[in-house]
Amino acid sequence: MTPINPQARANVHLVDHPLVQHKLTLMRKKEASTNSFRHLLNELSSLMAYEVTHDMATQDVEIETPLETMTAKMIDGKKLVFVSILRAGNGILDGVLSVVPGARVGHIGLYRDPATLNAVEYYFKMPKFMDERDVVVVDPMLATGNSAIAAVTRIKACKPKSIKFLCLLTCPEGINAMYAAHPDVPIYTAAIDRELNDHGYILPGLGDAGDRIFGTQ
Ligand code: URA
Repeated sequence: MTPINPQARANVHLVDHPLVQHKLTLMRKKEASTNSFRHLLNELSSLMAYEVTHDMATQDVEIETPLETMTAKMIDGKKLVFVSILRAGNGILDGVLSVVPGARVGHIGLYRDPATLNAVEYYFKMPKFMDERDVVVVDPMLATGNSAIAAVTRIKACKPKSIKFLCLLTCPEGINAMYAAHPDVPIYTAAIDRELNDHGYILPGLGDAGDRIFGTQ
């Protein structure tokens, strides 16, 4: 088993709320149907959005309650961009957008070149004015970290104000790799599993997230 670098571990926000853990357990079960896997992923993603936005800036606005005027806080959701790493990242979008409906959405598509094993970009579409925005990159699994690292490198070229990485599951190998490449990018995850297998799958994990979301197994 690979040990987690303590500095890398300090960069990980492990969301161990009982609701999150309960739903994740249901998703891990091999008998979970595509429908219930997707439904649970939506719920879990909205709970994770609550955590990943905990330090979002708020503005004071003057409003009127039925009884009096008050100064209250609001967020500017439009300043946030959720960037989905295709295709499994799309499974997280509905849940996070249900709680931050004004957020913008970017997509990045990467495949692994079989000869070099490097991540090669085939799609990249971000909203305008990225330099004014906070980015949350979403992908259910942070496994080898190769595509996450390549995605963050590419997004950094757009000079956003901040970048966070949101996943459901990760492992020591993914945490160490991401920290080595991008120590300034905090990871939000619902679990740190034991290890990666030789095929790049997380153990015990939940299998291929994309196949389970889209029913393509
Ligand atoms: N991607 C997946 O979908 N599952 C894993 O276990 C690792 C990477």
